[in-house]
Amino acid sequence: MSFPRNLLPDSAAVGVDGGLVLGGRDVTDLAAEHGTPLFVYDEQHLIDRCEETVDAWGPGVAYASKAFLCRAMARLAAEAGMSIDVATGGELHVVLAADVDPASVVFHGNNKSAAELEMALEHGVGRIVVDSFDEIERLHTVAEGAGQVPQVMVRINPGVEAHTHEYLSTGVSDSKFGFPMQGGAAARAVHTIRDSGSMELAGVHAHVGSQVFDVDSFVQAFDAISPFLTDSGAEELSIGGGLGVAYVEGESAPTMREWADAVRSAAKRSGVTARVTAEPGRSIVATAAITVYSVGTIKEVPGIRTYLAVDGGMSDNPRPVLYGSGYEAFLPRSLDAERDGTYRIVGKHCESGDVIVRDAALPSDVSVGDLVATPVTGAYGHSMGSNYNKVLRPPVVFVRNGVSRVVVERETYDDLLAHDVG
Ligand code: LLP
Repeated sequence: MSFPRNLLPDSAAVGVDGGLVLGGRDVTDLAAEHGTPLFVYDEQHLIDRCEETVDAWGPGVAYASKAFLCRAMARLAAEAGMSIDVATGGELHVVLAADVDPASVVFHGNNKSAAELEMALEHGVGRIVVDSFDEIERLHTVAEGAGQVPQVMVRINPGVEAHTHEYLSTGVSDSKFGFPMQGGAAARAVHTIRDSGSMELAGVHAHVGSQVFDVDSFVQAFDAISPFLTDSGAEELSIGGGLGVAYVEGESAPTMREWADAVRSAAKRSGVTARVTAEPGRSIVATAAITVYSVGTIKEVPGIRTYLAVDGGMSDNPRPVLYGSGYEAFLPRSLDAERDGTYRIVGKHCESGDVIVRDAALPSDVSVGDLVATPVTGAYGHSMGSNYNKVLRPPVVFVRNGVSRVVVERETYDDLLAHDVG
C-alpha cells in the first residue's frame, strides 16, 4: 500500500532510493542540512493554492494568516492577489513587515485594543471587522482622534452550527464572536455604524467554523445571512474561512472551487447582489507542509503498546492535544514501505498527553535515529507553536525547483533569554 498522496504536498515524489522528495529536494538531505524538528513547505503548492483561491473567489479574497504566518508567506499570498486577514497587532506587524499593501489587510479580532485600532488606522489598514458594541465605541473614538473614516465590516453570528469540533465552531448562538442576528444586535450594529459619521460600512462578515467538510454548512449559513445582508444594504459579504482538509487516510475534502461555487450559487439563488468573498487559511497551507522529526527512543510496554518518542511534540503541533486531531506518519527514507507496525508517537514534553499520533502505522523496522514525518502540518502548527519546556521552535524551510531556503530560523537558547531581564 502506498502512502496516500492526497495527504502530501503537490510536488511530492519518490526518489530513486525510495525516499520522499519535496520541491525537488530529498527530505533526508534537508533534515541533515537543517536539523530536526523541521517544517518543510512546498512553496509551489502554496503559490498554486493561493492562485486557485483567487480564481475561485475573485481578487481580494483574503488569506487567514493565523493558519501560518511569516513574511515569506504574507508576500506570497499578496503576490497571488490575495488580501490578508490578521487578528492581532502582532499578525499585523508581521504582515506590514512583509511590505504588503496595508489597504489589502482585513483586521479581525473579538477584543481589539485601542492601541491595535490606532495601529490599524496609522498604517491605513483597508478593513476593520468590528465584533462588539464596545469595539464600535472604541473605534469611533480612535477614528475621530485620527481624523479618519475607516472602512468597517460587521461580524455577525448567523446562529448556524457547522459540523466540526466544538472549539472550532464559531457560528452558533453561544459564541464570543460576532453580533448575533437573533435579537437584533447585528442590525443595531449596522445602524450604529451608519449613524456614526466616523466609520463607513463596507460589508458584513460571518465565519461559521473551521475544518468544515460539508459545503452545505456554508450554504445554510449563507441562506441564514442573506435576508440580513439585503436589509443592511452592505455591498460585500465575507463568508469567512473554514474549508476542511484531509488529515488522515480515507478523508477527502471539497475543493476550493466546489466551496466557492456552492456559496456563489446560493447567492445567485437568493438574488444577493453584494460581492461574496471568503477568507480561507487552512485549505491553502495545511497540505503544503510536513514536519520532520528524529526518533530518539522506542519503548515497548509489553502487552500494551510501543511508544516512539520524537524530538518535538505538543510545542510544534498542539492540535492532537487540543482537539484530539488525527495525523498519519511515514518514514521519509521509504515513503511507500509497508506500514506494518503500530506506534504511539509522542513528543519530549513532560506530559503524558504529549501525543502527536495516537496509533501511527509505520514500518516495523523503524529504529532510533530514523526520521519520521507527519504530513498536513502546514496550518495551525507553526502558528500555534510554543516554547513549553523551553523547547526551541523549529525552523521553516521552503522548497521549490530543487532549491531550499530557510524562511524562519530555528530558535536558539539565547532567544529563550531575550526578554528574561531578571
Ligand atoms: N476567518 C476568521 C474570522 C477565522 O476566525 C478563521 C479561523 C479563519 C478565517 C480561517 O479559518 P480556516 O480556513 O483556517 O479554517 N486552531 C484551530 C483552528 C482555529 C480557526 C480559528 N479561526 C485548528 O488548529 O484547527
